Amino acid sequence: MQQKLIYRSFGKPLEVLELESAPIPEPQENEALIKLEYANINPSDMGMIGGSYGKLAELPATAGREGVGTILSIKGDTNGLSAGDRVRYPESAGTWQSHCTAPTADLFKIPSSIDPEQAAALFINPPTALMLLKSFVDLKEGDWIIQNAGNSSVGTWVIQLAAAMGYKTINLVRRESLFGPLEELGADVVLVDEDDYPKKLKELTGGASPKLALNSIGGNSVSRMIKCLGESGVCVTFGGMVGDPVRFPTRFLIFNDVQLRGFWMDKWTRTHSKEDLANLYQELFEWIEKHNIHTPIQEVFELKDFSKAIKAFSKPRMGKILFKS
Ligand SMILES: NC(=O)c1ccc[n+]([C@@H]2O[C@H](COP(=O)([O-])OP(=O)(O)OC[C@H]3O[C@@H](n4cnc5c(N)ncnc54)[C@H](OP(=O)(O)O)[C@@H]3O)[C@@H](O)[C@H]2O)c1
Repeated sequence: MQQKLIYRSFGKPLEVLELESAPIPEPQENEALIKLEYANINPSDMGMIGGSYGKLAELPATAGREGVGTILSIKGDTNGLSAGDRVRYPESAGTWQSHCTAPTADLFKIPSSIDPEQAAALFINPPTALMLLKSFVDLKEGDWIIQNAGNSSVGTWVIQLAAAMGYKTINLVRRESLFGPLEELGADVVLVDEDDYPKKLKELTGGASPKLALNSIGGNSVSRMIKCLGESGVCVTFGGMVGDPVRFPTRFLIFNDVQLRGFWMDKWTRTHSKEDLANLYQELFEWIEKHNIHTPIQEVFELKDFSKAIKAFSKPRMGKILFKS
C-alpha cells in the first residue's frame, strides 16, 4: 500500500496532518512509479502546511517538498531513465509519501555516488547557500561573511562552501554547545546571537568588517548583523524564523550605505531554465565530491511516526530530521 501524509486544511502540522493509505498508483503513459527513500523536513513545509508560505498547494495536498526515491517501473518514454535509478522525488507530487508517479520528462537523476540521506536534503538549502554566496557580493579570498542560524542546514552549507571558496565566516547561534560542531565544519568564528557581540567583533576578525550578512531570523538578530557590516555591505534576507520585521538601524543606511536585499530559491527556479537548474545541481555534486560538503542529519523517522518527527523538528537541534519510507 501507498502511505502519505496529507492535509485537508491549512493549520499547525500536528493538528492537520493525517496519514492516509491507498493502493500503490499505476504509472500512466510516459510516467515512472517511484518509491521514496528519504524525504526532508524544512521550515518551508511548515509554512506551506500552515498557509503562510509564498506559494501554497491546492487542498487536499500531500505534504513535503524535498526528497529522493528510486524508480520502480516506467511506462512508455523513459527519458533516458531506468528502473533502479535514484531521482529527486517530485515536489509537485508531495514528498512525504511512500510512492508516487510522475512524468519521466520531469525527473532529475542523481549520481549513485551521492548518499541517499544527503540527496534527500540537496535541492532546497544547498542551492540556496550557493546562490547566496555567488549572487550578491563579488567576494574575494579572505573576505568575511556574517550569518545568523549558523547551525541551520543553509548555515552549515554556507560555512562549508565559504571555507572551500576561501571566505571567512562569523556564525551566530543560540547556544554555546554548537561552537565545536560548527568549527569542525570550517566556521572561523562562532558567537551567541546576543546584544554585545557587535562591539567585540573586530577583535575577532583582525579589524575586518563583513561584506555580506545572511539573515534567516529577522528582528533584533538582523539589526545586530547590519551594525557589523562594512561600508556598502549587503544584507540578504531569505528566511524569517521569528516572524518579526527585519529591523534596520537607520544610521547604517545613511552613513554606511548598507543595502538590504531578499532571496527566494523558488523564484530563481521559476525564472531559470531546466538546464540552468541541472547545472546548479551539477555544481553542488562537484562541491560534495571535491570537498566532502554535507548536510548534518540528526534523526530519521518512518512516515507513520510523523508526530514524533515534527516534534523533533521543532526542538533545537544540529541537523536535519528526515522521513524514510
Ligand atoms: N528563501 C529561500 O529560498 C530559502 C531556501 C531555504 C531555506 N530558507 C530559509 O532558511 C532558514 C533556514 O532553513 P533550514 O532548512 O536551513 O533550517 P533548519 O536546518 O531546519 O534549522 C532551523 C534554524 O532556525 C533556527 N531557529 C528556529 N527558530 C528560531 C527562533 N525562534 N529564533 C532564532 N532561531 C531560530 C534554529 O536554531 P536552533 O537550533 O537554536 O533552534 C536553526 O538554526 C529558514 O527560515 C528557511 O525558511 C529560505
